[in-house]
Amino acid sequence: MKFAMRFLVSALGVAAAAKSAGHLRASLASDITAPQQALLSLVAAAANGRGDSPEFDISSLASMAQSISKTGGVPETVNTIKGLVTGMLESLSQEASAAQLGVTNKTLFETCNANKAAAMGEVAKLEAAAPADGHYAEYNQCIQELANLNTTAQSCTSQEELLRVAKQARCEYFSAVDRSNNYQSWFCYEDDFPVSSTYEAYLQRNINMLAEYRTRKQNCTDASSSYSAKQSECNTKTSPVSIKTLHCETLKSNATEAFCTPYQGKVTACNVYDSCWAASEAAATSAYDTAVSISENLKTQWNALKRVECLLDVLTKSGVKPEACVA
Ligand SMILES: *[C@@H]1O[C@H](CO)[C@@H](O)[C@H](O)[C@H]1NC(C)=O
Ligand SMILES: *[C@@H]1O[C@H](CO)[C@@H](O)[C@H](O)[C@H]1NC(C)=O
Ligand SMILES: *[C@@H]1O[C@H](CO)[C@@H](O)[C@H](O)[C@H]1NC(C)=O
Ligand SMILES: *[C@@H]1O[C@H](CO)[C@@H](O)[C@H](O)[C@H]1NC(C)=O
Repeated sequence: MKFAMRFLVSALGVAAAAKSAGHLRASLASDITAPQQALLSLVAAAANGRGDSPEFDISSLASMAQSISKTGGVPETVNTIKGLVTGMLESLSQEASAAQLGVTNKTLFETCNANKAAAMGEVAKLEAAAPADGHYAEYNQCIQELANLNTTAQSCTSQEELLRVAKQARCEYFSAVDRSNNYQSWFCYEDDFPVSSTYEAYLQRNINMLAEYRTRKQNCTDASSSYSAKQSECNTKTSPVSIKTLHCETLKSNATEAFCTPYQGKVTACNVYDSCWAASEAAATSAYDTAVSISENLKTQWNALKRVECLLDVLTKSGVKPEACVA
């Protein structure tokens, strides 16, 4: 049942459609003998008066009314037209009810509420799963343990550093008398065997040199092994620090997440709810405006149809004057 009014206008002819209501009343008064013509004009005036009216199928009615004037058979044709008019009135009522339903429809708002409740429910689950302090107790304990491990490791490495310096000093001291790699060339230096010295002195000097060499060598060897032993010990103390550091970082991000994820969830839920509600309000306003506009148009169409219905009675019942149909 959706035809534009322009179909009606073309069915009736431009001249008829152009008649104003004032002209119509005048023509009805002077042209009582042709009421079917008045019907056509009235319908045309309804179309012309409301060029922006929504569509409804009145073109058949117009054609039929035209056929009345040409072929006769008035009572049958009028009944057919009455049937059409009744159908169109019913259709208008349905359209009005549908527009009314659109105004009272709260589905969009209810959906916003339901979605927000569901999102908040998910947030509540997260909050319930996390401890009240959001895992910060675990994190703080980890930091304490890390500090203890670090203190132990730091104390070890400072001892290691002392031993490294001692080793370096001892071994440098030893290398100063160590000519074992090239002792033959060294042996030939005259300075080392002064001719003025006694042989006894020569032997004595070499005994002392050997003893010094051995002590320094032993001291270098001892210092090196002390240093190596400390290095191994410190390695076993520093690697737990790295492991613990990583673990604490994981706990920290978990602790932060335990606090922030529910918070972010709430922020998101509220933002979504705000835009959902705004969209629902916009839709409700639009539905209301549409309903108002539809109802105004329906009123016009309803009145026009009622007038047509009245004019149909003019065609079939004696004593009903067309003037009675022009309210
Ligand atoms: C109410 O509005 C919703 C969403 O716009 C729609 O899906 C539903 O069909 C409407 N209900 C009625 C009774 O109009
Ligand atoms: C370990 O202690 C040292 C010295 O106090 C400090 O510089 C370092 O940042 C600490 N390392 C860790 C992982 O705590
Ligand atoms: C060897 O080391 C000891 C200490 O461990 C030190 O008393 C001594 O003087 C050192 N001797 C030499 C020759 O370096
Ligand atoms: C992080 O927290 C969740 C519960 O919120 C827990 O299941 C998980 O084991 C934690 N991760 C670590 C590394 O502690």
